[in-house]
Order: sequence, then C-alpha cells, then structure tokens
Amino acid sequence: MTTTTAVPAVAHTREELKAAREALPSRDVAVVMTMGALHDGHAQLIRAARQRHEHVVVTIFLNPLQFGPKEDLSRYPRTFDDDMAICTQAGVDVVFAPTPDVVYPDGDPGVRVSAGPLGAMLEGASRPGHFDGVLTVVGKLLHLTAARSAYFGQKDAQQLLLIRRMVRDLDFPVEVVSVPTVREDDGLAMSSRNTYLTDSDREVALCLSRALRAGGEAASYGPSAVRRAAREVLVDEPLALVDYLVLVHPLTLADVPEWYRGEALLAVAARIGTTRLIDNTPLVVGPGGGAIDVFSDVPHARAEV
Ligand code: PAJ
Repeated sequence: MTTTTAVPAVAHTREELKAAREALPSRDVAVVMTMGALHDGHAQLIRAARQRHEHVVVTIFLNPLQFGPKEDLSRYPRTFDDDMAICTQAGVDVVFAPTPDVVYPDGDPGVRVSAGPLGAMLEGASRPGHFDGVLTVVGKLLHLTAARSAYFGQKDAQQLLLIRRMVRDLDFPVEVVSVPTVREDDGLAMSSRNTYLTDSDREVALCLSRALRAGGEAASYGPSAVRRAAREVLVDEPLALVDYLVLVHPLTLADVPEWYRGEALLAVAARIGTTRLIDNTPLVVGPGGGAIDVFSDVPHARAEV
C-alpha cells in the first residue's frame, strides 16, 4: 500500500480517466462512487479501500438518472473544492468527475439496468425508477474505472443489496465491499443531505438513530418487540413524518415473521422539514441478539480504519 498526500489526478472525460488509470503503477484499483458533497462517511469508504488496495479511484457524479422530477437534484450540494481536499487527505489516486454528457453521451440511456422487484420496495416505493438509475450508473462506472473492488456504505442498505445482486446476477467481475455507517457523535448518520437540515430539524432527526438503537436493544425479545420499541421512539416525535419503519430480511427485504431468529435489517425513512432522511441498522434477532455493524455473510471492511 502506498501512502501519499499528493493531490489526486482529476479526470473529467473518459480519455482522461483511461490515461490516469494507465499511469497508475498497479492494476490493483478499488473504486468509491459518490455524488460529491463528501463527508466522513465517504472518507471512511476511501480509507477502507486504501487499506486493501494499491490505488483508489473516487467518482464524483451527481447522477440525474436516479433523481425523480420532484426530487432534490437542483439543490443537491456541490462542493468540488472541499471534496478534493478530502480526497487528497484520504490518499485518493484519481478523481473521476464527469458531467452528464460524458456519462450519457446520447442523452438518457434507452437501455438501463432493471432493479427488479427488490427495487420497487422501501425506497423504490417512494422513488420509482430510482434504483434503475443507480444500477445503470454503477454498472457504467464499474466498466469505466475497471476497478477490482467497489466500496459502498451500509447506510444505503437497499442500494448495497441491489448492487450486490446486480454484480451476481449480471456477472460483473468485481468484489463488492460494505462499510458500516459512520455517525455524528450524537448518532445522526452522516449524509450529504444533512446540510439541508435547520438546527431544529437536526434535533428532530436524532429520533431516527434513537429509534434504531431502541430496536436493537429489544432484539433479544423478537421481531414485534423490535418494531414496537422503535415505533415508540418515533411516535414521540410528531415532526418526523415517517415513510416506513420496517424489520426485514436482509436479502429479500420481506418483513420477518414473529418466529424469525437471525440477522435482520431495521430500516427507517422519514421526512423532516423539507428533507427526506433514511437510516438503518443491521441486527441479530433472538436470544443474546442486538445491533451489529454489518451482516456476517458478506465480505466487509471493519470500522476501525
Ligand atoms: P452518495 O450518497 O454520495 O454515497 C456514496 C457512498 O457513500 C455510498 O456507498 C453510500 O452508502 C456511502 N455513504 C453515505 N453516507 C455514509 C455514512 N454515513 N457512512 C458510511 N457510508 C456512507 O450513494 C450514492 O452516492 C449514489 O447512489 C451512487 C452509489 C454514487 C450512484 O450514483
């Protein structure tokens, strides 16, 4: 592993990316895909990737294909200079920051990756077409960067699951690695969208991580105890408009039945002020159970980077 604080090479076009990749001494490249507005959650993905690979490519691309017409594409924070500082500090080799016409030279692609039924659940129910847009761009960026490994956050649990499914179902030659959710000291999951929150929204938003913690603490008593404990926290916060609060199987996203024991995903989405936030925790349901960082049956990077 090389240690460097050099400023990363910046590529805006496909040709520049190819040249920057070819200039790297080793083919051992990992990719961290982002939409910019980087925070310590993104930095943790980069650090995890650097631990295991010679080189790290970060993509910064605000993908229009995954935003619905009424969503926040136009107000999404754009902070390229700060992003570069984080990438430099974290030892990134190449930043690929294309514009939409570079990624989609013929306009919106007529052929897209379909996320299938899993893509219509939870986030997909509120955001039709979102995961087709995510998987299409992730597939393209995997091809363009030709990375061996790709690092994604547990924070976006459904996205991570769907990317794993795409890689498996469509035989992408890449290893997908998940990284536990990075939180602020008070529990709020880091997110580029947290910058939308007013001070009072931010206080309200803490109910999401509190609800997940309460659910985790009830895990040894079974699914309905988990759901009840989490719901009790959320009903105490009427300013959080809950879209869903679910305890589901990590691979099927189906609600786990009351007899279920084992790993499950407790996930929540809520609108707070004008901002829609998501959060989740993997947990083990059953005797001795509780919250865990990541699911056990998948390769993962540890938090202590
Ligand atoms: P973005 O929201 O910028 O997130 C980029 C990556 O950072 C994702 O893998 C996400 O799960 C991870 N991440 C975000 N917040 C995190 C946190 N608090 N802790 C750990 N990881 C965190 O997700 C996307 O962009 C896009 O959909 C993308 C995959 C880039 C496709 O456009």
